[in-house]
Amino acid sequence: MKVTVVGAGAVGASCAEYIAIKNFASEVVLLDIKEGFAEGKAMDLMQTASLNGFDTKITGITNDYSVTANSDICVITSGIPRKPGMTREELIGINAGIVKAVSSSLVKHSPNTILIVVSNPMDTMAYLASKATGLQKHRIIGMGGALDSARFKYRLAEALEAPISDVDGMVLGGHSDTGMIPLTRLATRNSVPVSKFLSAERLEQVKEDTKVGGATLTKLLGTSAWYAPGAAVSSLVQAIACNQKKMFPCSVLLDGEYGLKDICIGVPVILGRNGIESIVEMELTEAEKTNMHKSAEAVRKTNGLLEL
Ligand code: LAC
Repeated sequence: MKVTVVGAGAVGASCAEYIAIKNFASEVVLLDIKEGFAEGKAMDLMQTASLNGFDTKITGITNDYSVTANSDICVITSGIPRKPGMTREELIGINAGIVKAVSSSLVKHSPNTILIVVSNPMDTMAYLASKATGLQKHRIIGMGGALDSARFKYRLAEALEAPISDVDGMVLGGHSDTGMIPLTRLATRNSVPVSKFLSAERLEQVKEDTKVGGATLTKLLGTSAWYAPGAAVSSLVQAIACNQKKMFPCSVLLDGEYGLKDICIGVPVILGRNGIESIVEMELTEAEKTNMHKSAEAVRKTNGLLEL
C-alpha cells in the first residue's frame, strides 16, 4: 500500500506521522515544493520508527511527481492555511491554482488512485479536483466531516463530563464556520440521546463551539490546526487501505442524494478499498434539510468563483 501526501507542512507531516504510527502502509511519500523540506521531515519521522515501532517507509521528495507513481491513495494538503480572523473561503484565490495543478500531476502518475482533499476551502477544492482530474466520483474524497465530528464529540464529552469514548455523533454539511451541521438530535452517550443529559441551551452551545472549532484553534495557534486534521486523514486512509467499510461524513460529489447534484458536500459514506463504497442517505428533519440546502448554497457560491 503506497500513500502520497502532498504538502509537508504541519497538516501533511502530521498525516504522514499518524499513518506511519498506525503501521498499515508499506510506503508513504511526502512531497513539497520547498527544496529539501519534505526530505527533512521524512528523515526526522523515520528516525522515530525504532522508537514508535513502525515499519512504514517514509520518503521525502521536492516536487518530483514521478516518485509518487502508482500510489493507491494520494492526500492533498498543499496551499496556504488560515490566519486568525480569516474564513476558509478567503483562501480560494491562492489554493485553487495549487490544488488544480497538484491533483492533475498526481493523477497523471497514479491514474487509479483515490484522492483525499484537505486544502481549504475544502468542499470547493474537492469539487475542483474532481473537475480537474476527471476521476470517477467514488475516488474523490474531501476530508472535513471526520474532523468536525471528532471536534463535536470532544465538545459533547466536555458538556457531558463524560469520556469521549462514551460519545457518538456526526457533523454533516460544508466544512465552514456557518455551513457545518452538527446532528445534536442524533448524538448519543452509549445509545442514550444526549438531550437526556443536556439542556437545549447547552446543546446549542456545543453546536456553536463545534462549528467554530477550526477558527478557535486558528486564533490560539496563529495558524490552522494540524493534530486532529492529520489524525482524521489517517483514519480515512486506514479505512480505505484496510477495506474497513467504516462510516465517516466526507465531502463527496453528489448526484441526487440529499436532493443535491453537481456539488461536493459532507454526507455519511462507507469507506473501503474502492474509496467511497456507498453514500448513506439519512432521514433528516425538515429543519436539518433546510440547513443542508443553505450549506449547499454557500458551497455553490464559493464554487462559482472557480475558473473551471
Ligand atoms: C481545520 C482546517 C483543517 O478545520 O480546515 O482545522
